Amino acid sequence: GGEFGFPVVLKADGLAAGKGVLVCRNEEEAEAGVKEIMVEKRFGGAGGRILIEEFLRGREVSFIVIADGAKALPLVTTMDHKTVFDGGKGPNTGGMGTISPSPFLDRKMYARIMSTIILPTVTRMLEEGRKYKGALYAGLMLTADGPKVLEYNCRFGDPETQPQMLRLESDFVDLLMASVAEDVLADEVTWNRRAAGCVVLASDGYPGSYEKGRTIQGLEDAERLGAVVFHAGTKFEKGRYRTDGGRVLGVCAAEPRLSETMNRIYRAVEKISFEGMHYRRDIGSFEAVP
Ligand code: GLY
Repeated sequence: GGEFGFPVVLKADGLAAGKGVLVCRNEEEAEAGVKEIMVEKRFGGAGGRILIEEFLRGREVSFIVIADGAKALPLVTTMDHKTVFDGGKGPNTGGMGTISPSPFLDRKMYARIMSTIILPTVTRMLEEGRKYKGALYAGLMLTADGPKVLEYNCRFGDPETQPQMLRLESDFVDLLMASVAEDVLADEVTWNRRAAGCVVLASDGYPGSYEKGRTIQGLEDAERLGAVVFHAGTKFEKGRYRTDGGRVLGVCAAEPRLSETMNRIYRAVEKISFEGMHYRRDIGSFEAVP
């Protein structure tokens, strides 16, 4: 409750593939935003109702855990890069790239998030008779007043999971089975200390409308350079990969240092091509992100 000034945040009050959020700097933008969501239905049926929220200033953190109904095991931290263009410009997307670990989460903040946000959420759900098991994703803003929850997702992150998988040394299936068996803390889960990264190759036009069916080239060359390429919006047709979504591929690597990781990824990205391929060139250079 309460009153607040601009900027305001408009959210389509429904599922919108992680995209249904507009930040409006003034009344004009807010009016245009309401029209976009409710009249033009940019986020489809999710725009039937709107949630208006205070704009929180700070660093955005994706905090993802595996819960087992009573306890929670945090995955390694990540930082997402939300806007479609470099330096925090353009509309928000589902995520254009990630790095792990997050450069903005120290041990103290990590412990604070676990004890003041994650564990109370899991415990409260247990008390309410809605035992929550599986991936729980808290989208947080680290503000001057401490960490605040922007949203919860009942799933893993995309593209957060990709760099997390490059750091996981234990068996992922064992971890999921432990969640089902209500014992996520039973075995030690080991992560490597590498800096992992993921750069998303998107179709031009995304997060708006875009073409599909464009032939993708250079996947093997990219992997020969030591990158791991995760497929998102692709399909295999007549012996070739073609684009089939807004976010097409996630090009990833994990090296001892973040600069080496990003060098490897961007060298691999240069080998890949499809018509209208778009990606951010500043993933991992977090100074550029407001
Ligand atoms: N990368 C943001 C999300 O998975 O919601």
